[in-house]
Amino acid sequence: MEYKELVRIAIAARENAYTPYSHFKVGAALLARDGRVFTGCNIECASYSPTNCAERTALFKAVSEGVREFSALAVLGWKEGEVCTEFASPCGVCRQMLYEFCGPDLPVIMAKNEEEMQVMTLGELLPMGFGPANLL
Ligand code: THU
Repeated sequence: MEYKELVRIAIAARENAYTPYSHFKVGAALLARDGRVFTGCNIECASYSPTNCAERTALFKAVSEGVREFSALAVLGWKEGEVCTEFASPCGVCRQMLYEFCGPDLPVIMAKNEEEMQVMTLGELLPMGFGPANLL
């Protein structure tokens, strides 16, 4: 699957973001090695800290369906009612959780739209990440 298509799916997933507090809506699309795509949006909470990011929503959906191998992640986010001008990158907690299943080579596609994207590996976003191999 082309990165553009994954970005398109992430843009659509962003529509479901539940963000009555920050109004910052994030969409993610996680491509599994078997070709399936798991989407995610951020889901906020009146008590704030239980809020779940879009990337972890997508990852948890996949893992809960028995899927643990991934080949790319697309993510984008911007404020409701505004135009996207910045790349949104996964927060530290999401980087760590993605590292658990994806390791350092996962391409993370940060996009503003289908044309403008910045691709970095998870290892670049989380250098010297602590992962399952460290506990062997
Ligand atoms: N958010 C994400 O969904 N992903 C990130 O990687 C960064 C932050 C969400 C959490 C919260 O609902 C809103 O963006 C503002 O922090």
